[in-house]
Amino acid sequence: MTKETPTVDMEKIVSLSRRRGFIFPSSEIYGGLSSCWDYGPLGVELKRNIKQAWWRAVVQERDDMVGLDTSILMHPQVWAASGHLEGFADPLVECKNCHLRWKADDLTGDSCPSCGGELTESRQFNLMFKTFMGPVEEDASVVYLRPETAQGMFVNFQNIVNTTRKRLPFGIAQIGKAFRNEITVGNFIFRSREFEQMEIEYFVKPGTDEEWFNYWIEERLNWYVRLGIKRENLRLREHSKDELAHYARSCIDIDYLFPMGWSELEGVANRGDFDLVQHAKYSGKSMDYYDDETKEHFIPYIIEPSAGVDRSTLAVLCDAYDEEPDKDEIRVLLHLHPSIAPIKVAILPLSRKEQLAAFSKEIHADLRQHWMVSYDDTQSIGRRYRRQDEIGTPFCVTIDFQSLEDNQVTIRERDSMNQIRVPIGELKNTLKAKLEGEDLFVLPPGGQIWKQGE
Ligand code: GAP
Repeated sequence: MTKETPTVDMEKIVSLSRRRGFIFPSSEIYGGLSSCWDYGPLGVELKRNIKQAWWRAVVQERDDMVGLDTSILMHPQVWAASGHLEGFADPLVECKNCHLRWKADDLTGDSCPSCGGELTESRQFNLMFKTFMGPVEEDASVVYLRPETAQGMFVNFQNIVNTTRKRLPFGIAQIGKAFRNEITVGNFIFRSREFEQMEIEYFVKPGTDEEWFNYWIEERLNWYVRLGIKRENLRLREHSKDELAHYARSCIDIDYLFPMGWSELEGVANRGDFDLVQHAKYSGKSMDYYDDETKEHFIPYIIEPSAGVDRSTLAVLCDAYDEEPDKDEIRVLLHLHPSIAPIKVAILPLSRKEQLAAFSKEIHADLRQHWMVSYDDTQSIGRRYRRQDEIGTPFCVTIDFQSLEDNQVTIRERDSMNQIRVPIGELKNTLKAKLEGEDLFVLPPGGQIWKQGE
């Protein structure tokens, strides 16, 4: 079912992202800041659409889930309880000659890979970013930028039970920034020091945890497929006992075949009662749940599907990227699923003449109330189609002088390049149906097939 060879080079994705305004290096005019990225006008739409698709699937369409948005800075005791102060560290060695630092696990020899110098003994390096709360920089005011959004959900467990009256099993979902002072970064937005997570903490009765663990693996895998990612580019990988995080009883990664090979897109972990027990111990507050049916008090187990927004964005870009022979050139296109495409429809008047422009702008003004719609009247129509193909716009609406007479416009489909012509009164509903997956050649009243291919 799965394959081994990635279909696209990372350079092509980086180049397209930069060229078309999906993703730029952070603070680029100052030479950039290592592993930090800025999402441009198209990137911000794509990322927002992915987050919206996730929220819709895991909160909006479910009875057993609620959302939350907790602060990035939390009480320092949170990180003592979670085990991050103790355990969220990598062993590091330093070169005595050039002073570069290396992750001990990544080294094969016992000298510096850069200058061959002698290395120090390894010592633990905590990956949490530290800062100070208030004006005094002293130990008592140290706080951390959260390295995961999860803890905000654990510490609010009782608030959610008390305010929503949810009964087990139920879950909390949160999307937000997380920060890790990673030693090795790279592969574009795959591993950075500031990134965004989409996390679910699903609380279940102990004993039912295995069943819910399997349920969420299936559910999350299917979500990526619904987002348009090819099934053969996804696989499940179980963590061996020695690679399990300190809190996990078991963990399965959903891997994607990125350009650098199979790598983690999302982790689904069975965290048992580790987190609630720890927070009960450190805060002195009860984390018990009262089951009204069995009249028992117990601490729930937690199943955690934890996904990266940036990795999902990179995966959909890689998966959608395609090149096709096109006369003497190459047509670059992104086969993005319409639900996540940054721009849903482009309005392309064939001329800039006043009469046609006014007519086209009216259509633009109407459609943009429903979707992100762009307007482009520069250069030849062929070039404009290519520009839209390259950013994944599913449909172009072309308006010509005949439109002024017959009140009809053409709709061109990105992937097939086929075109239909429809009355303006039918345009909005037709586009809606096509964006929801209806075949292009299912025609509205008064519509006709206009062109097959280009
Ligand atoms: N609460 C569990 C947790 O944080 P994790 O496997 O460390 O688990 C979950 O992280 C997800 O967050 C990963 O699968 C990945 O998608 C994303 N992620 C983690 N570190 C990242 C980094 N440095 N850059 C980008 N995404 C990252």
